[in-house]
Amino acid sequence: MTVTGVVIREVMLRDGLQNILDFIPTEAKIELFRLIVASGLRSIEITSFVSPKAIPQFRDAGQLAQAALKMKPEGVEISALIPNLKGAQLAVENGVRKVGFVMSVSESHNINNVKRTTAESIEELKKTLELREKYPDLIVKAGLASVFGCPFEGKIKPEVTLNFIRQFYHLGIRDMSMADTVGFGNPREVKETCRLCLTEFPDVTFSIHLHNTRGLGLANSLAAFESGIRIHDGAIGGLGGCPFAPGAKGNTSTEDLVFMFEEMGVSTGVKMETLMEASRYFQSVKNDVRFSSSILEVGVPAPKGPITKEGFEQKWNM
Ligand code: COA
Ligand code: ZN
Repeated sequence: MTVTGVVIREVMLRDGLQNILDFIPTEAKIELFRLIVASGLRSIEITSFVSPKAIPQFRDAGQLAQAALKMKPEGVEISALIPNLKGAQLAVENGVRKVGFVMSVSESHNINNVKRTTAESIEELKKTLELREKYPDLIVKAGLASVFGCPFEGKIKPEVTLNFIRQFYHLGIRDMSMADTVGFGNPREVKETCRLCLTEFPDVTFSIHLHNTRGLGLANSLAAFESGIRIHDGAIGGLGGCPFAPGAKGNTSTEDLVFMFEEMGVSTGVKMETLMEASRYFQSVKNDVRFSSSILEVGVPAPKGPITKEGFEQKWNM
């Protein structure tokens, strides 16, 4: 498949909501999903099949996934995050056929996030992959968290990530996502890590999941793009953050990503107007959270028309 643009995977309904303590009604999530689809986004992470004790926000995961699968037009990919086999089982029982198995490349963050060592998570991943015997159309993506740094252990070397990727590759996984969970990465590191991954594993579909914690979200996305990454996660309104990673802030905003790529002539397939309707809708549902999106704040450039000296003087003489 020749890629002439980028795919922006919308993760607002998952990452964007996981840090919001007040339960967002399922109907509001469904309406948001409808607007997201209407905007032209074609890959949507719909929810997390996690323990409702860990994240009560996702206690409606099954209901939401079923509704989205029923509504979704042809060509729209629905995926969900899972932390363990139980999550995978619930996801497939509710019709989901693409799951992102999350594990951190940092031992400490993995323990804090999913209460398992990385070795234990890999055992859980192996059991999850066995589900494919019963559900051959199930796609398991490996979601690597804290790739560029961890709130407990600090910077993570690319070799650590590559070692995990090698293990996943040997397990037959060909879809992997690299996350900068707390915003430690800089464009040079992102470019280098992506380059190393793509060079060693040309047959893996890599995606990038960036948080704009320290303002480098877009720059890091561009660096990943220049290395050849064509799937970029974004969240409407720049919402998001892992509740089990201290200091985590929002994802790079989808609006800003769409603006950057489209201005560069890289097609996203997204209609900005409708996308902004989705953000405004969520603002009307919940406005006491930190939205962080330049485009949402100031809009796309809208020139007011040229100024002639004559017109300018007339204006001042009035
Ligand atoms: N979905 C729904 N329920 C789940 C579940 C899942 N994926 N995994 C476990 N549970 C339930 C169990 O059935 C059990 O319920 P019970 O107390 O009613 O019997 C309870 O949760 C505890 O199960 P256990 O296997 O002991 O899990 P745990 O307490 O060791 O927690 C995780 C481990 C991974 C399930 C939990 O830490 C989690 O869901 N974390 C989410 C992490 C996350 O999403 N982070 C943000 C994204 S980066
Ligand atoms: Zn995230």
